[in-house]
Amino acid sequence: MNRRTFFVLLGVPGAGKGTQAKLLEDRLGIPQISTGDIFRYNLKNATELGILAKSFMDKGELVPDEVTIRMVEDRLTQADAQAGAVLDGFPRNLVQAQAFDKITEPYGGISLVPLIHISDEEAMLRITGRRVCRTCGAVYHVEFNPPKQEGVCDLDGGELYQRNDDLPDTVRNRLYVYYKQTSPLIGYYFAKGLLVELDGNQAIEQVQDQLMSLLAMKVAVA
Ligand code: AP5
Ligand code: MG
Repeated sequence: MNRRTFFVLLGVPGAGKGTQAKLLEDRLGIPQISTGDIFRYNLKNATELGILAKSFMDKGELVPDEVTIRMVEDRLTQADAQAGAVLDGFPRNLVQAQAFDKITEPYGGISLVPLIHISDEEAMLRITGRRVCRTCGAVYHVEFNPPKQEGVCDLDGGELYQRNDDLPDTVRNRLYVYYKQTSPLIGYYFAKGLLVELDGNQAIEQVQDQLMSLLAMKVAVA
């Protein structure tokens, strides 16, 4: 089978995984696959999956593994993912990581796992100021990455909204869930020689430059 390139972005909620994955998508020509975005898309369209996911997302809990893994498997069969993908928000626990190893094994496995470091205080600031475009999903921050016109997406003029799970109490639980369930993946990927770490406390463009240099060092990317 053809080799594919898979990058898995790790980091606390608000670390900038979505922001960086979107930039990588444009630069590398492989799609961002964000499980959170797929759940939100389903919720917007009131599908069964969206309604199920909402009950977990609103509390900051993980959606059941079986549902999430099947959804990623399906997404990877689509035409735009035939050369690989940048995974954002998946895998999120050891069960998902082991399943993803099996899924990617025929294509040469995961290429690299960049871990974006920021503090919990910074995560709170970033998440509570985040605004997302209702139509295209572009991500802004009221202070750190503001749109040209308040409340309006630069790309398509869509309305910017605050995610339901971006309220302080839910964010604290998302951080707790991250430390309990997702942070063991740091050791898991370190042991496989796939982990690289970067400082997320810099401007978006600088984090992207760091990321591109790390990818270029480890794997042949343009
Ligand atoms: P998900 O949508 O994945 O949310 P998350 O992991 O909590 O991560 P965020 O999207 O909050 O942060 P991010 O790292 O993408 O940061 P961003 O780039 O937006 O998941 C939501 C929910 O869905 C989960 O809680 C769970 O219920 C469910 N779910 C999803 N995946 C699942 C899975 N695999 N299994 C089970 N359940 C799952 O940036 C944040 C803000 O900071 C933005 O405003 C941005 O503009 C700003 N910013 C970014 N970079 C910088 C920078 N360098 N400097 C200043 N500001 C910056
Ligand atoms: Mg995100």
